[in-house]
Amino acid sequence: MNNIPVVLILFGGSGDLAHRKLYPALYNLYHKNLIHDHFGVIATARRPWSHDYLRQQVTQAVFENNDDVDEQEVKEFASHFYYQSHDVTHVDHYIALKDLASELDEKYQAQGNRIFYMAMAPRFFGTIATHIHDQNLTGSGFNRLVVEKPFGRDLKSAEELNKEIRASFDEDSIYRIDHYLGKEMVQNIMPLRMTNPIVKNIWNNNFVQNVQVTLAESLGVGTRGGYYETSGALRDMVQNHIFQIITLLAMPEPENLTADAIHKAKQDLLASLQIPGLDDIKKHFARGQYCAGATTPAYLEEDQVDPNSTVETFAAGQVKFNAGPLAGVPIYFRTGKEMKEKISRIDIVLKHMNNLYGTAHSNNISIIIDPTSEIYFTINGKKISTDGLRREILDYTFSKQEMGQVPDGYERLLHDVFVADSTNFTHWAELKRYWEFVDAVEDGWRKLDGEGDKPESYAPMAFGPKSANDIFDNPKEHWIYR
Ligand code: BG6
Repeated sequence: MNNIPVVLILFGGSGDLAHRKLYPALYNLYHKNLIHDHFGVIATARRPWSHDYLRQQVTQAVFENNDDVDEQEVKEFASHFYYQSHDVTHVDHYIALKDLASELDEKYQAQGNRIFYMAMAPRFFGTIATHIHDQNLTGSGFNRLVVEKPFGRDLKSAEELNKEIRASFDEDSIYRIDHYLGKEMVQNIMPLRMTNPIVKNIWNNNFVQNVQVTLAESLGVGTRGGYYETSGALRDMVQNHIFQIITLLAMPEPENLTADAIHKAKQDLLASLQIPGLDDIKKHFARGQYCAGATTPAYLEEDQVDPNSTVETFAAGQVKFNAGPLAGVPIYFRTGKEMKEKISRIDIVLKHMNNLYGTAHSNNISIIIDPTSEIYFTINGKKISTDGLRREILDYTFSKQEMGQVPDGYERLLHDVFVADSTNFTHWAELKRYWEFVDAVEDGWRKLDGEGDKPESYAPMAFGPKSANDIFDNPKEHWIYR
């Protein structure tokens, strides 16, 4: 589909996400002709920018992201952008926004199609949704809403927000962004699982010992201390990215590749999600907080962080399902800031075979999501000239050229919003289950806080606190990647 007519209203137009990700992604879609003559963008934010100043910012964002662009094309692209200074609580501003949207609708013959994009502080999402409804900002064509994370802070607040949003948008028109679902290797999970008989036939609880999902970051919270204090690692990374990855790994095969069938497979799995009790939390979960490194501050010394904060900057735990191919298989996750390296990976640890060779190394399937794009299998081979076994690796790594062709996650997800493909977005039913799980762990941790238990401090340049090594079901299990 080419040249989709639409007016896009972006809340948070002067922000970091817009500059780093959204403007360059929109430009790429413009360059590829998905949007072209019939689109207009209204960027709103509090700052008193002019249309011209916004256009300069958009141009700069495109140039910063791309060495090889045509100046004239960028100029034409930027001419589609309009700025409106906006206080999200102010009714008059929505009325002005509505007028501008109608004007652009006419100017660009956008056929009454609107996309609303909430890319600002999440505490405003509900207010904006309510005003969109009350001031009747939706157009006469299609209306879609894109919402950034976090979607709520717990199940209760997520339900409230959902209600506010649903007043103007159907579930089918809501695109809850999880940028991990736009990543190439996350999108590779289904083809890897389902198209190769070797992998397909062992992807079950007869062969898989455990699954390990690691989303490690080498940086601290930086300037985001204020937000992080309301979140912590569990809400920031597990409730969304880690759970979506786990769902793709453990869901039954969908009937076909439509968005509906994939969401159904996910929801069938999630109906069987085990919600952990306090005992499970004590045994199978760990939390940590980074301390100071040689040149880096401790979490408690970061800007806007309470010096007595018990917010976790590292979380590890176990997820289990009662249904699906991995029913009963422990799926371990860990994520944190100030860790040894920036790496996002999945390790499928296969069971040891009862074999004639004594102890074999474990055989694993690993998917590296970042910083490289890679899939590798570890297998056992014979040691050269002796009888013992040695570990071999079968590796498929994207070449530099292939890496260059991988579109940014935001470009892919925005493209999907334009063409109304909700496959790689979080459905409300999924989000709700993720919150149920996370709320249970948060409740457990609050009880443990009451007993004097605190997040364990960990040194930067490690893979989190020592207690993360004690969460396994079986003492023979351990983190494959160390
Ligand atoms: C975001 C979190 O969702 O994901 C951040 O809010 C985190 O805290 C980021 O740094 C990690 O994303 P990526 O793509 O860099 O692994």
